[in-house]
Amino acid sequence: MKTVNTIEALRHSVAAWRSCGERIAFVPTMGNLHDGHLALIEDANKLADRTVASIFVNPLQFGEGEDFETYPRTLDEDSSQLASRGVDLLFAPPVEAMYPRAHLQQTRVEVPELSNILDGEFRPGFFVGVATVVCKLFNMVQPNIALFGEKDFQQLLIIRRMVVDLQMPVEIAASPTVREPDGLAMSSRNSYLDAQQRKTASLIYRSLRQAGDAIKRGEDDYAQLETAAITTLEDAGFAVDYFSVRNANTLNPANAGENKLVILAAARLGQTRLIDNIVISR
Ligand code: PAJ
Repeated sequence: MKTVNTIEALRHSVAAWRSCGERIAFVPTMGNLHDGHLALIEDANKLADRTVASIFVNPLQFGEGEDFETYPRTLDEDSSQLASRGVDLLFAPPVEAMYPRAHLQQTRVEVPELSNILDGEFRPGFFVGVATVVCKLFNMVQPNIALFGEKDFQQLLIIRRMVVDLQMPVEIAASPTVREPDGLAMSSRNSYLDAQQRKTASLIYRSLRQAGDAIKRGEDDYAQLETAAITTLEDAGFAVDYFSVRNANTLNPANAGENKLVILAAARLGQTRLIDNIVISR
């Protein structure tokens, strides 16, 4: 695996493959890789001739008081994991290469509406940061296909919308959420949890499943399901940002009888914010 830190070196490597007609898959990450990230890499390997991964902790998507400084950075371990999974090229740029201008002077990409609800309501500016960096990375790598995890369901829909709205010539593929044996969605932020919090954390997935099973049985009072789940989570010590049944295509609040739903949750245990979701097709 080759590792490059400059946009020039990245473009050079990728251009050589493209000129041979090779198909390029791209997996953007913030590093501190776990099996969820590695599943994206494995899917990417199957979908293209070359796999490019990026590791960049993107300051633009962290708000005031969030964990940009303390976000786990484990480049050496990440590199060996990517190399052993057959990644062809790792792009790991410094902040100055990605953002030569001061933050407020940087051109931004905003996907309206979808970016302001759910996580966007609790993390203002977050999805502008995500859409902007992903747009920049797409312009640098120019992949045929890019892979994202369903774990970050709202992010996935926002990237899909951005690609359609800006006519970007890239296909977006999604990979299912990879979980720990107790159901907790894998996340770099799980390492912030102490032993007690780690035990409690799997309740998010259990609550999602419980609400999902009730909907599959025909329950259509979504407000009641949401309230019950929030109470269960709060009783266990979570501070809940949202637990919400939505239309899986639009993320609008779901109406009884709709077929493709997603239940999304975000909740904090101490300082650690966890998100998860499940998709329900009836
Ligand atoms: P990061 O949190 O590192 O995640 C990188 C990719 O891995 C995302 O597509 C995310 O959805 C996926 N992923 C994370 N945990 C997963 C899990 N348990 N199962 C399956 N996939 C999982 O998401 C970001 O970085 C950033 O916002 C980024 C898109 C790189 C832009 O900065």
